[in-house]
Amino acid sequence: MAGLNHRPLGRTGLVVAALGLGAMDTPHSPEAVQTVTTALDLGIDFIDTAREYEGSEHLLGEVIRRRGGKDFAVASKTFSHSISGSQYDIDRSLKVLGVEHIDLYQLHDISTPQSWDEVMRDDGALAGLKTAQYRGLIGHIGISSHDLEIAEMAITCGEFETVMLEYSAFFPQTARLITLAAHHEVGVIVMRPLGGSGRTSTMRGRIATGDAGVLTPANLLRYVLSNPGVSVAIPGARYPSRVVENVATATSYTQLSAAGRREIEHAATGLY
Ligand SMILES: NC(=O)c1ccc[n+]([C@@H]2O[C@H](COP(=O)([O-])OP(=O)(O)OC[C@H]3O[C@@H](n4cnc5c(N)ncnc54)[C@H](OP(=O)(O)O)[C@@H]3O)[C@@H](O)[C@H]2O)c1
Repeated sequence: MAGLNHRPLGRTGLVVAALGLGAMDTPHSPEAVQTVTTALDLGIDFIDTAREYEGSEHLLGEVIRRRGGKDFAVASKTFSHSISGSQYDIDRSLKVLGVEHIDLYQLHDISTPQSWDEVMRDDGALAGLKTAQYRGLIGHIGISSHDLEIAEMAITCGEFETVMLEYSAFFPQTARLITLAAHHEVGVIVMRPLGGSGRTSTMRGRIATGDAGVLTPANLLRYVLSNPGVSVAIPGARYPSRVVENVATATSYTQLSAAGRREIEHAATGLY
């Protein structure tokens, strides 16, 4: 089987497999360590976590210790909007992960004008991330947002090397921003590429009864990976079997045609 396809993460200089892992819910599984280990053994080399994801940084720290070192890129996040709070969070992340350097640190869910103003002030969280970057504690600075206007400001303001956006056949309207980010050499990390856990649970039920049609996790992943402006998609997974299936999809998919994309988008409108 061919290996995972790699793509540059914007202008960071990092090149990562286009399929990553979102470790938000992974700790909530008895197979959590195996899930992360399977991902790494199959070639996934970018894992997203956050201070806010309960147990997630601890889990990655445990995996790093078991492997005798960090052999993948870690992206974490702070919910703090202040210069001191963001630096405190980075120190906590470093301790919990058991590393001296974190590849990418992001401002988490900056989705209102007020939170944007707060993090961008002279004493805001971005200034804390810049200080930590200067001290060599973090490599690159990113942001996640669920608001398209704020995401556009983040892409065009020149301060962020990556942006985390929701994008899927359920949420195709982000495509314009992905093109814009590519133009500005801002790396695009796609959150919720399968539409989130509620929808995937429904899909699994339909697959079990032979009633899925084109709306499958594999086709949804193909949909996201077929967009060349996406740097890395990070489907969440609690179980190793999901990772194995997603790696199989990402190593064997063919580019979707415009008609194929529309067919999946159309099917997605029927599932909320
Ligand atoms: N910055 C933010 O504000 C923010 C917000 C949301 C998410 N995120 C990031 O984005 C990542 C992904 O988001 P998400 O987990 O909400 O949504 P998602 O990746 O669209 O969906 C995750 C769900 O898909 C299931 N799944 C994965 N692969 C599957 C497969 N091959 N077949 C069947 N089901 C499959 C998982 O099942 P199991 O869990 O049962 O294995 C889980 O329930 C998160 O982990 C996090 O890193 C960031």
